[in-house]
Amino acid sequence: MNIVLGVGGGIAAYKSALLLRLFTEAGHKVTVIPTEASTKFVGVATWEALSGRPATNDVFDAVDQVNHVRIGHEADLIVVAPATADLLAKAAGGQANDLLTTTLLMARGPVLFAPAMHTEMWRHAATQANVATLRSRGIHVLDPAVGRLTGPDTGPGRLPEPEAIFAAALALVPGVLVAESATTDAATTDVATSDAVTPVPDTAAAVANGAAALYGRHVVITAGGTREPLDPVRFLGNKSSGKQGVALAESALAAGATVTFIHAHMDVAPPAGATLQAVETALELRSATLAAAGSADVVIMAAAVADFRPSNVSTGKIKKRDNVADPVINLVRNPDILVEVVAHRAAQNQRQLIVGFAAETGDAESDALGYAREKLRRKGCDLLVVNEVGPGESGAEKVFGQDANRVHILSLDGAAPVQAAGSKRTVADAVVELVAERLGPG
Ligand code: C5P
Repeated sequence: MNIVLGVGGGIAAYKSALLLRLFTEAGHKVTVIPTEASTKFVGVATWEALSGRPATNDVFDAVDQVNHVRIGHEADLIVVAPATADLLAKAAGGQANDLLTTTLLMARGPVLFAPAMHTEMWRHAATQANVATLRSRGIHVLDPAVGRLTGPDTGPGRLPEPEAIFAAALALVPGVLVAESATTDAATTDVATSDAVTPVPDTAAAVANGAAALYGRHVVITAGGTREPLDPVRFLGNKSSGKQGVALAESALAAGATVTFIHAHMDVAPPAGATLQAVETALELRSATLAAAGSADVVIMAAAVADFRPSNVSTGKIKKRDNVADPVINLVRNPDILVEVVAHRAAQNQRQLIVGFAAETGDAESDALGYAREKLRRKGCDLLVVNEVGPGESGAEKVFGQDANRVHILSLDGAAPVQAAGSKRTVADAVVELVAERLGPG
């Protein structure tokens, strides 16, 4: 496959050298187009040596080959990493004053921007408007990762890790991993001299043992805990940290899926490489999930959704006053989003796999699993991941906010329950494996 790697002028340009290596080692031909500013961070010699091809941003180099038309036309995929605020603005404005911007206008295949900049620049209304414009045109813009930036500051703005950009980029081109899989058995054929895609060893192993089993699938994951406002400063919330949802997203991305991650409040950073949507309340989560579910192959409802919300949200802060009775909070029931997603699937006659989560405790009448089986029937989802919650033997909380988890995964079709224990990522991998098994080949 022909890939164009546009490199913007940011310190994260050095990470794109690793991204370039991932592409070339997977057998792709990469033409690097570094902006002039980026060459202050990484020199042209690095790009030419690593790609084995000329690297220029000048439309007047090789004029006889009409580079600015040819490169864009021949590209199966264009990735811009790091994408600076300036590059996003130029692309959104349709500017064409160098080889990278003209190539972007000539693109016929998918285009992926991986932004990196300081948090203030990312959050600026101008940048956000440019990102929205690009997305509305079908161009893919990753959300930046959250963490340490160039100086001592931290926040959203880090370039996602090269592996995450690599996976997100390849997921945009149908059939790429299939081609890799097909060549794994043919390592001794003349792959090196053909255009066929040769996998890097890790990718080959991943494909061989089914780790890319969600390639080409769209997975919607909800995570975190909703907050239901009482007044402008107070809310009813819950203990969900979002860790299990993030682990599920990372596992699905590693399996080759494109992931829409709809998250309510979380204590941890959202996953890099997913399309993120932040929500606050159950009703907002419901609209976002129902909208995203329409195009999803899989919906995983890991969010802790408030079952009730205050029936009345005060516009001013509720005051505590002497000689006046203390306020009483009246609650109304929130819709059950999981049940609605199941109903929506039936109404659309859609082939979709739906996974619910349940935190259960046992009592004198039934154990936690008994209650969970009943819940699975009531909700009608395909799989239910059951956590036993409450204090463990040591008296410490078993699930919420912890790094490890122990679950039973129940199936509506009556298949034997699967147990998984270990880190939240181990549990996520078990869920993703079951999902992939049930979906079968794409
Ligand atoms: O009924 P319960 O809250 O135990 O169900 C948990 C499952 O249902 C989770 O998958 C959760 O995301 C989902 N849920 C929902 N809408 C609600 C409550 C829970 O989708 N109002």
